[in-house]
Amino acid sequence: MKKIISGIQPSGRPSLGNYLGAIKPQVSMQNEADVTYFIADLHAITVRQEPADLKRRTFEVAAWYLACGLNPEKATLFIQSHVPAHAQLGWILNTFTQMGELERMTQYKDKSKRHSSNINVGLFGYPVLQAADILLHDIDAVPVGEDQKQHIEITRDIATRFNNHYTAGKEGAKPIFVVPEAMLPKAGARVRDLQNPESKMSKSIDGKGTIFMEEDLKTIAKKIKSAVTDSGSEVIYDKENKAGVSNLLEIYAVTKGMSIENAVSDFNGKGYGDFKSAVADAVVAELEPTQARFKELMKDKTELSMILKKGADKANIQAERTLAKVMKKVGFVPPIV
Ligand code: TYM
Repeated sequence: MKKIISGIQPSGRPSLGNYLGAIKPQVSMQNEADVTYFIADLHAITVRQEPADLKRRTFEVAAWYLACGLNPEKATLFIQSHVPAHAQLGWILNTFTQMGELERMTQYKDKSKRHSSNINVGLFGYPVLQAADILLHDIDAVPVGEDQKQHIEITRDIATRFNNHYTAGKEGAKPIFVVPEAMLPKAGARVRDLQNPESKMSKSIDGKGTIFMEEDLKTIAKKIKSAVTDSGSEVIYDKENKAGVSNLLEIYAVTKGMSIENAVSDFNGKGYGDFKSAVADAVVAELEPTQARFKELMKDKTELSMILKKGADKANIQAERTLAKVMKKVGFVPPIV
């Protein structure tokens, strides 16, 4: 069975971009693959977080996964800081990562512009921790949105470099890390801001262009109906010239689980007004029951904590096994247990 992992930062309210680009496709994989998802709280503190908010949002991300149908009997769900090997391997992998490589990361460049008074070492080394998250778990594929592709590429580079370093010239030596692949959804990999379709929809930008999963349904419908389109009148999929319309088509298609072609044919001969209303109806119909389940799940933190503990217990076994192999390869004296 293919092994899959992905994570979400509890750094804001999850957006429709997180849902369509990550949570929905990730949940759908639980029947065909061995899936592990985690709440990346170690990553979240690379930007200042209010402690009470961080704690609440950590539970919220877990609750969203479950509300969207993740089955904790099949999938592993855990909090990153509950599996200390992530930070430990991150340290070791720092020594296999070049400053120049990290300087090229677009997310680092964007975030250091947005948080110019706090360009901390953690923000810079963020992709190394992400590599550790993945490499500890012998992962084949990492389902993510487009903005994370570069982080998966550097993970591959780090894994290959480490593997080569400890196998070169040593006959029969086996590589430690499985080199993972990025897995992007066909549609929805980059949901765009409704007001500024040139940019991605971001949970850190609170405005008319971002839809939050927990948002009031009427507000969601209103935001979709006032999405920026263009001066034309035809509902056509053309990302270059019709970014706003194409974005709404992707939102509609992924929400309804249909192809872009079928989505386009639903609006043959229809105007933008009808089109936007249909997109709004589709999103509201999808999120309404999900929000209700989310609210129920958030009422019982003990139950959520138990699910997360079970997930961490399982993840710790796998993570510690890989970490022990890495430490042995590096030449650390093994601790007596
Ligand atoms: P994060 O928390 O920013 O986003 C979580 C997931 O949502 C996807 N996403 C989007 N997809 C489509 N359209 C959008 N507008 C959009 N915005 C966000 C992201 O691509 C991501 O899949 N570094 C990661 C968290 C992480 C991780 C990992 C992921 C930490 N360790 C290991 C995979 C494997 C992040 O910040 O995601």
